[in-house]
Amino acid sequence: MPTIVYEDQKISCEKGENLRAVLLKNGIYPHNGASRYVNCFGIGSCGTCAVHIEGQVNEMCTQERIRLSLAPHNPENGLRLSCQVTVQDDIKVKKYAGFWGQEVNHAASSSSKTKR
Ligand code: FES
Repeated sequence: MPTIVYEDQKISCEKGENLRAVLLKNGIYPHNGASRYVNCFGIGSCGTCAVHIEGQVNEMCTQERIRLSLAPHNPENGLRLSCQVTVQDDIKVKKYAGFWGQEVNHAASSSSKTKR
């Protein structure tokens, strides 16, 4: 069973489970602020469930690629839409700030990796 590390929490799930569904089932919202209530409920159109993932998940589908290419997202940020992700192995998930979780700070990310 894959393990999902989200912030300081660890969750187990079945291989192939939908990441957003697993998080919600465990009381974790991959949405910031009001986007918890104002979102597309997992059809991949709003972009508010974006997260950064380390580890093996499914390939990005066309719907996800298109949404992440639209503002305020930037494909260079390397985010994924948790509602379009299936967990394939142990993963580490990080949610960034901003309504869409789009405020990726690469400088802070790389410095925190350096400290570990
Ligand atoms: S919940 Fe809307 S894109 Fe994932």
